[in-house]
Amino acid sequence: MQGTAIAQPNIALIKYWGKRDVALNLPAVGSISITLRELHTRMHVIFEDGLDADTLTVNDAPDENMLPRLSACLDRVADQDRPRARIASQCNFPIAAGLASSASSFAALTVAAAHAAGKSLTTAELASLAGQASGSAARSILGGFVELTNTNGGIAVDSLCEADEWPFAVVVAITETGPKAVGSTAAMEISRKTSPFYSNWVDQQAADLDTARAAIHDRDFARLARVAEHNCLKMHSIMWASRPPMVYWNAATMRCLETVRSLQARDIGVFFTIDAGPQVKAVCLPEHAADVEAALRKTQGVEDIMVSGLGQGARLEAAT
Ligand code: DP6
Repeated sequence: MQGTAIAQPNIALIKYWGKRDVALNLPAVGSISITLRELHTRMHVIFEDGLDADTLTVNDAPDENMLPRLSACLDRVADQDRPRARIASQCNFPIAAGLASSASSFAALTVAAAHAAGKSLTTAELASLAGQASGSAARSILGGFVELTNTNGGIAVDSLCEADEWPFAVVVAITETGPKAVGSTAAMEISRKTSPFYSNWVDQQAADLDTARAAIHDRDFARLARVAEHNCLKMHSIMWASRPPMVYWNAATMRCLETVRSLQARDIGVFFTIDAGPQVKAVCLPEHAADVEAALRKTQGVEDIMVSGLGQGARLEAAT
């Protein structure tokens, strides 16, 4: 009755922002992401008869805040009348700061819980269950370049290209640690209800997905860079124009964008993307990672840098 799974966060190049069904947590738009390698969450789940309630530790410290969302995920994976569980999460990067910790957490939790409950689930089932917990988590079930597509009643995930078929490096410039002011779940609803740009965003997403899919297929870095930056800035424009406005950027975020622009002016193949937080993810080919890292390290306000390649999808740890 136990399982341990590891999953890596993913970074969306074509973003998920907005829900078409809040209760089922179904996204309004499809998305395309890359799964990272060096950042990870390891989840250990033990179902134990006789326990009164689920318990959770995150990096060995008890955590009550995240527990209801994790318990609800266990109910969906292992049924409501399951035994209570001890959940232990280990995460090697800052949590809830726009680095997609919920993606790796819920992907790992889903895989670990399915094993602990003795269920053998397909990739589609795992993605659907992880996605109900957190939309972006569905993409961390797979590795490399992943597309999430809306289907009639749900979602599907597909691998567009494996991690080693088009190796990328992602240089994450951390400009601020600590949890964000508005979580993405709430921010998406504020955007949907109040932003004048929201419906255009939903309407245009298919075209951005087509462009990115074709660029990945053709290994066309410049084309992927253009559409990814455009899609990211469109998503942030929705938030800026919401009421209340949501601006996740700080001054260092903006300086990092200028650094990326100056690298591009030196013909270094790199582009930026930013999620619901102030960190900047600079995506480049591995041969440029050292230059990109050095330039971002020198950028005023950058507190730390993490560099990652592309990795595989969520999986059970061998010992369990
Ligand atoms: C900006 O997956 O965290 O990172 O489904 O409400 O848990 P919920 O949202 P979440 O949102 C991710 C938003 C994003 C873009 C993306 O990853 O596609």
